Amino acid sequence: MVKEEILTLGIESSCDETSAAVLCGGREIRSNVISTQIPIHRKFGGVVPEIASRKHIVNIMPVIDAALEEADIKLSAIGQIAVTYGPGLVGALLVGVSAAKALAFSLDVPLIGVNHLEGHIFANFLAQKDLEPPFMALVVSGGHTALVDVRGYDSFCLMGQTRDDAAGEAFDKIARVMGLPYPGGPEIDRLAREGDPLSIAFPRALEGKGNYEFSFSGLKSAVLNYINSEKMKGHSLEPANIAASFQHAVVEVLVEKSFEAVQETGRDTLVLAGGVAANSSLEGRLRAEAARRDVRFSYPSRILCTDNAAMIACRGYYQAQNGRCSDLYLNAVPGLGLVAR
Ligand code: KG4
Ligand code: ZN
Repeated sequence: MVKEEILTLGIESSCDETSAAVLCGGREIRSNVISTQIPIHRKFGGVVPEIASRKHIVNIMPVIDAALEEADIKLSAIGQIAVTYGPGLVGALLVGVSAAKALAFSLDVPLIGVNHLEGHIFANFLAQKDLEPPFMALVVSGGHTALVDVRGYDSFCLMGQTRDDAAGEAFDKIARVMGLPYPGGPEIDRLAREGDPLSIAFPRALEGKGNYEFSFSGLKSAVLNYINSEKMKGHSLEPANIAASFQHAVVEVLVEKSFEAVQETGRDTLVLAGGVAANSSLEGRLRAEAARRDVRFSYPSRILCTDNAAMIACRGYYQAQNGRCSDLYLNAVPGLGLVAR
């Protein structure tokens, strides 16, 4: 008799996307419904936490219902529930965590609290069905930039992370001073295609060998100073060149450190994760460099790069397989980091 695969309901509400997904087994997506609040927050130039929480409250049950409907299953068919409990905005996280706890209690199924950053890494298992640890992961999102040595499904070693701004945060802040709408990453990406990446030499921080930490605040200040001094000199700005040169500085540091980490650990695979993974220049440079070095490169589709519940369900599935479920005292942990195990 064929063993029936467990159905996992994934719930994600850490920032400005309310998402629910149904996963069959560890890697088959039955549904992945994402309700984004970006148009609402765009008016304010960034995410307004209080508004995000309120919108999650309105959206959470309809999004879960839509995910069940799309998967063509009843709620009673769900075998376990995985939910993001951090890092993120506390009010936003609490909406998902509360919904997951109530559903897990009423259905009497296991509850699995998932680290959002680990979820981003696990999006790669959904994209590449044959991917197995160990591998090196570059996690680049709006809130985090980190190199993680993934040694097993439940064993991670943090090689280094950002000391200040995350890569996505730097993209968003530079876009804002350039008068581009939120979120700035995709806008800079688009504009950079028309510019010359070598036109302005912006600085790169912490370039030393064996240093896997990142810092983007100096680069951010350098771009701001450049814009201000050009304006003071009465020069007209060339936004495409600024975007391309800024992006180039970010991408080169990420590429350099990623492959140094790959080399040091002897890994044969590099995976890209997080919202900034959608950046076409970053993806292209990593892919080219991986081919040159004979390293396998994995990159999830755009929809799996940015926040979604399928990646949370996937992480939850493997966590539960290792017996790491949560109890109903699970709480939101806004500052949750990657825990080395
Ligand atoms: O992972 P994500 O959806 O949310 C967090 O967990 O933070 O990442 C969102 C971040 C934003 O900073 C956004 O500007 C950035 O990802 N992003 C991009 C691109 N698409 C999204 N950054 C650069 N280029 C892109 N194409
Ligand atoms: Zn994220």
